[in-house]
Amino acid sequence: MLEDAFVLCAAGAIEAVGRMRDLHSLDGDVFEVDCRGLSAVPGLVDCHTHAAFGGDRVDEFSLRAGGASYEQLHAAGGGILSTVRATRAAGEAGLRAAVELHRSWMLREGTTTFEAKSGYGLDRETELASLRAIREAGGFPTWLGAHAVPPEFDDADAYLDFALAEVLPDAAKLAEAADVFLEHGAFDAAQARRYLEACRDAGLALRIHGDQFTSSGAIPLAVELAVRSVDHLEATGEEGIRTLASSDVVGVLLPASALFLDRPMPPARRLVDAGSAVALATDFNPGSAFCESLPLVCSLAATQLHLSPAEALAACTVNAAHVLGRGGRIGRLAPGYRADVTLLEAPDWRYLAYHLGSRVVARAVVGGELR
Ligand code: NIG
Ligand code: FE
Repeated sequence: MLEDAFVLCAAGAIEAVGRMRDLHSLDGDVFEVDCRGLSAVPGLVDCHTHAAFGGDRVDEFSLRAGGASYEQLHAAGGGILSTVRATRAAGEAGLRAAVELHRSWMLREGTTTFEAKSGYGLDRETELASLRAIREAGGFPTWLGAHAVPPEFDDADAYLDFALAEVLPDAAKLAEAADVFLEHGAFDAAQARRYLEACRDAGLALRIHGDQFTSSGAIPLAVELAVRSVDHLEATGEEGIRTLASSDVVGVLLPASALFLDRPMPPARRLVDAGSAVALATDFNPGSAFCESLPLVCSLAATQLHLSPAEALAACTVNAAHVLGRGGRIGRLAPGYRADVTLLEAPDWRYLAYHLGSRVVARAVVGGELR
């Protein structure tokens, strides 16, 4: 930690970081941002969101508040499939507007890089439109072609036949990674393997939604296929912790989703102590985590996951950047990194986790531009 520090940026990248007393006069046109009274941290990286959706699930949220469970609503054709209907109805312009709006919410919370998944179209047109909307908003697009089985297919295998033959060739041109929801009622381990292997052959990096409600083989598959991350892990037990910790697969923790669904928190402390690399993300989506705030996620990490503020900050900056395959370019305040800086309204950077649910982000600098 540096007191009375500067971050010198040029052409969108960080050129130097140091103490003000060591900053000598600069040549040329220098635009100075006075950050006295603020704390600067690396621009926050949200490596797991579902920002491409139409409509909302506020009715379902109210039903859940009255006692209905997320799984019951899903099984009754609500849940993800109700967002699929709204997303298909939104059209490409509606989806573009939605992703743009969600991106602005994230930026307000200090997120300077976001990943977003498709997965609420589940037809060719809407999946590709989702990926285009994410790209246009400057996000990292992930093809979540295996999120749920849409109503026009009888079973998961028939849907995968379609998705891999008809959507993957074009999705692979728009997306950087592929993701699958490996869970009872969604896709099983054999189906997930089939999907991921086809996506890998098409050049995509791999991710898995795993161990959210049940431990159904996500971690062994993740390690075997050397995927970038396995995300959720609320249902992960001792064996899963050991297996994950002995691999290079990052565990992505989504405590806002566990909170929003009133589910157990993932075993974050035990994962870190066992040697696992972990990242933190919001899981922003209309059903299981209507939350775009990484500062709130950092608070949950400290109070519920027993990570230190420093571990939480690393988890939603540099570690999250690694999940996106950009560990050498974003996520640190260091020379050569993109000039992404999140400025906190705080005398100590640990307010990022400490100031629970309050407005802690003052401004963000993205690629050297003050936003
Ligand atoms: O990560 N688990 C699957 N997908 C999302 C939830 C999607 C939804 O409820 O709309 C998740 O929690
Ligand atoms: Fe998710």
